Parts: sequence; structure tokens; C-alpha cells
Amino acid sequence: MTEFAWILPAAGMGARLRADLPKALVPLCGTPILVHTLRRIARISPGAVPVVLVPPEHHAAFARVCATYETPCRLLHGGAERQDSVRAGLEALPSDTGIVAIHDAARCLIRPEPVLAAVAAAEACGAATVAVPVVDTILVADAEEYLESTPDRRTLWACQTPQVFQYEVIMAAHRSARAEGFLGTDDASLVRRAGGRVKLVAGDSSNIKITRPADLRMAEALLAEEDSCTG
Ligand code: CTP
Ligand code: MG
Repeated sequence: MTEFAWILPAAGMGARLRADLPKALVPLCGTPILVHTLRRIARISPGAVPVVLVPPEHHAAFARVCATYETPCRLLHGGAERQDSVRAGLEALPSDTGIVAIHDAARCLIRPEPVLAAVAAAEACGAATVAVPVVDTILVADAEEYLESTPDRRTLWACQTPQVFQYEVIMAAHRSARAEGFLGTDDASLVRRAGGRVKLVAGDSSNIKITRPADLRMAEALLAEEDSCTG
């Protein structure tokens, strides 16, 4: 299998989760979310040392967790926005990096198949994101919250991570977004904005991003189903 680098943005505080510690350190079945994510990645890429972006003021707590659970990783300081955190991770990689997978630490249920499909697609065309076709009809609202339009659902996908890129493609996209003051909520949109092609790779709906309190219960149920609900 191709060698590739991992960047895990974990520097958010999780305002919507309303926990009293950074979201990536919140326990799921007794084990921090980040540890679940790192264990999954270790199974997909044995020997990988992911770059993990953390809130600078919580560096020591993250270092303790990674030591306690023996999950190898390289902790670096994230920035104010997710995009700043990812850029810090990209800049820390060697310039001869081939492929990089960027994955939200908060998606701790990632499975190997979509990752490997996204890596293959990124090798072929430069950029790929895991995503799932939406099941809900999506409404576009106007400024007064009246219905503006209803896009054809067959063209709509919900974005997930990992998003996988040839290193120079994502570096160039991040540099031009920064130069133009553009802030996106994911990385694939920066590549598209810079004129690149991004392949959508079908993932599965279990790859949830832990965002609100109810997601913790959902993730614990999914982990229990897989027998991964261990400390
Ligand atoms: N993230 C990051 N740096 C930031 C903000 C977010 O590395 N400045 C990371 C989060 O830690 C998370 C991923 O990006 O793993 C997706 O972000 P999100 O789910 O929005 O997490 P938070 O920003 O922490 O949550 P919230 O928006 O509810 O505050
Ligand atoms: Mg956020």
C-alpha cells in the first residue's frame, strides 16, 4: 500500500458539544475521542505517525493522553480556525511528501475502505474527499429565512473526511486561499476554488463527526456494535 501522511485537526474546543474539556479529549466508552481515531488510523496505516493539531493551552493534556494510551503521534499547535490548524500541519510535513490525508479527529468511526479508495483517487487526479449522498431534501434559504430554492438532491453529497491530496496540490490551494483571505470549512473546497478537480468517494453514514451531545451516544452505540467499546 502507498505510504501517506496524516494530518488530524484536533484544535477545536467543541463549543457545540458543551463539554468542559477540548472535544478530542472527551471520553467515548471511557477512552478519549482522539485515541479512538488514532487507533483506527494505526490499523489503516501501520507505523504512521499522524500530525495532530491541538489547542496550544491544552498541549500538556494531549501529550499525557497520547503517552497514557501509547498512541504515537506528533503534536503541534493549531490555529484559531480549522483552516489555520490544517495549514500548520501541512507546513510541518517534509516538502517531498507524496500524499496527505486530512481527517477530523472528531470522526472516530472511520473505516479503511473509503480511506483507501480516496488515496487511490487522489493519486490518480490530485484530490479526493470521502462523502455520502444526502438523504434529506436540502433547502436554500434567503436572508429572511424564506425558501429560496431546492437543489436537485441527486447532485448533493454530505462532506466527510478524510480528504486526500497530492501534497503540492493542497499546499498550493491553502496558499492561494490565505493570500485571498478565503476561509472554507473543509480543504477540498480550497482545491476546487483554485481550479482543481476533486473526486467524490462514497463513504458510509457511520463516519459521523462528533459535534453535539447526542452524537456521543450515537458514537458509543456504533462502537459497541463493532465491539470497540473498550478502554
Ligand atoms: N479544528 C481545529 N482547529 C480549529 C477548529 C477546529 O483543528 N481552530 C478541528 C476540530 O478539533 C475537529 C475538526 O476540526 O476535529 C472539525 O471541527 P468541528 O467539528 O467544528 O470542531 P470544533 O470547532 O471543536 O467544534 P465547534 O465548531 O462546535 O466549536
Ligand atoms: Mg468548528
